[in-house]
Amino acid sequence: MSPLILSAAGTALVLDTSGSGLPRVRHFGADLGAAEGAGLLPALASLTPAPPLLPAQGDSWYGRPGLSGNREGGHWPVRWTRDRVDAQAAPGEGGTVTVAASDARAGLELVCELAMDAGGLVTMRHTLTNVAASPYRVEGLVCALPVPARAGELLDFTGRWALEKVPQRRAFGQGVWSRENRRGRTGHDATGLLVAGTPGFGFRGGEVWAVHAGWSGDHLHYAERLAEGPALLGAGELLEPGEVVLAHGESYRTPWAYFTWSGGGLDGASARLHDHLRAARPLPVRPVTLNNWEATYFDHGLDRLLELADRAAAAGIERFVLDDGWFRHRRHDRAGLGDWYVDEGVWPDGLHPLAEHVRKLGMQFGLWFEPEMVNPDSDLLRAHPDWILGRAERMPPPQRTQQVLDLARPEAYAYLLERLDSLVGEYALDYIKWDHNRDIAEPVHDGVPGVHAQTLATYRLLDELRARHPRLEIESCSSGGARVDHGILARTDRVWTSDSNDALDRQAIQRWTGLLVPPERMGSHVGAPHDHVTGRSLPLAFRAATALFGHMGVEWDLTSASEEELAELAEWVALHKRLRPVLHAGRVVRADHPDPSALLHGVVLPERAVFALAQLTSRVAIGAAPLRLPGLDPAGVYEVRVAGPLPRAAHLPEWTGGPVRLSGAVLGELGLPSPALRPETALVFELERV
Ligand code: GLA
Repeated sequence: MSPLILSAAGTALVLDTSGSGLPRVRHFGADLGAAEGAGLLPALASLTPAPPLLPAQGDSWYGRPGLSGNREGGHWPVRWTRDRVDAQAAPGEGGTVTVAASDARAGLELVCELAMDAGGLVTMRHTLTNVAASPYRVEGLVCALPVPARAGELLDFTGRWALEKVPQRRAFGQGVWSRENRRGRTGHDATGLLVAGTPGFGFRGGEVWAVHAGWSGDHLHYAERLAEGPALLGAGELLEPGEVVLAHGESYRTPWAYFTWSGGGLDGASARLHDHLRAARPLPVRPVTLNNWEATYFDHGLDRLLELADRAAAAGIERFVLDDGWFRHRRHDRAGLGDWYVDEGVWPDGLHPLAEHVRKLGMQFGLWFEPEMVNPDSDLLRAHPDWILGRAERMPPPQRTQQVLDLARPEAYAYLLERLDSLVGEYALDYIKWDHNRDIAEPVHDGVPGVHAQTLATYRLLDELRARHPRLEIESCSSGGARVDHGILARTDRVWTSDSNDALDRQAIQRWTGLLVPPERMGSHVGAPHDHVTGRSLPLAFRAATALFGHMGVEWDLTSASEEELAELAEWVALHKRLRPVLHAGRVVRADHPDPSALLHGVVLPERAVFALAQLTSRVAIGAAPLRLPGLDPAGVYEVRVAGPLPRAAHLPEWTGGPVRLSGAVLGELGLPSPALRPETALVFELERV
């Protein structure tokens, strides 16, 4: 029997549909080109079993099962019989495969959906239905794909508030490496991507396979290698016992899991994720943003905000976002969450004087919300103590003096929808910054663990609000980058990458968050001269050159900035506007630069490219390593010139003084002579194909 093959953009997934069970995955990796077809499967047969789409012992799979669950008193280990396979696929163009299977004895039906998009990204999800009379308790249902024996090294990420996406590597030995999240939100420490690759893989080299769970609640990513040899990467929702119990006829559907392969390092795997999001949710031009949080915090004096808006507009900023503090009782962070009415004491005329001023200056207007949250000191909770996601009789442990609302409770959901809808309408809001500033502890909805229902209700609320206000943009924030995943990105327009605006830390945070999130969806702001989180002082040029490579914004009290600083900021904003057609549409490339004291990265379109060398610390070597620029067409000729101000440097090579013309081959192989930059400076340069 011919295998089923999905292939696109150099990658392929081969399914063996022989036998009567679920298809087995024979290959996920490089496109096999002419070798495809009937002759393929015998050649791929080996002693090591290929995992079925949902690994189970009935298929001689002794690793972690794809499905775990039970039916009290009538338990049957599940052994799937395939009922139907629908495939729509054209070689090189991707396609979809839907497999329906059942086990009459276990009383279960399964639908596995697989798709490969034109960019070669594989998405997968399962739907399980209980067709027996008695309830079936789902304990776990994950999506997994195999990786070959040569994938001997793992990369995943951890982090904390204000320092997200810190990489960690280890050998991929036998056993399970599982990254589990029980925080009720994606989490600062969430891995985002779990990567397996040939040992030593980098951004530009090595073969890599990666998985991502597109889910904003409890979840897991795991890598497993069996004693028999095969290895898998998997991802799914993490369910608490009793969280999902299916009555007769009910179904549980997993979130989408995203699988990406690259024969040329992490950049290739990341590019497929970027392309997928860009195709699914194209965005209009990203307006440069001012957010007042680190500028004024809870001080909402109108005069100060108007002056801030004036200065922002003068610097070329295009969107003004009023952060936390505008609603009833919110004079500090211990009260008011939930009372989503403009505070009459602070804003006697509503937000109109500010909103109108901002619009007159030609800027969009946005507002901060934290819809899922409530302070015990709020009118809302005083009126509805039972709306808590938990037991009102014994409140869950607080974080930032706040509790979580049970959004799966229809009255709480309806209240939030009405409040959001009405404020978006009243102020014609262009933008919402949607925050979620705590982990969820002891969640209970309707007597059962509540994160699953909460996550779905949040998605519903976002979807419904957007349906009512199609032009509204939404930013996903969660104490910085604690809700960054493709589940939320499917329904929002950018993420707040981190509460740290410290450009030195941001260089790393953005580089690694950027594996999952394209630059135009990664909020990156120019902070104050002395960073509010780390206390570090950094020059404006370095702060701006760092913010330049995302969705640029400013979060700095411009009323305290000098005329020189404002003029310099305006230049950087203008540069961002000039370069954003490249920065926000091109292919992100990160060089495996040999000097650990500097980072070299860029964004490349066929005709234009922008690069930056960011010098983080002092160099060890006297001579700086050449800047070998990845991602260019070797056959192309490019004119290279410095963009933005020249940084402080011990030595600047000749090309920084005026444009030079070089081929892509020379730029990629030999590289440009590097400047000897001082620490905490960056050189931004652009390329134009001639
Ligand atoms: C979180 C966000 C910040 C800011 C504050 C407001 O910490 O990440 O950007 O909005 O909340 O309270």
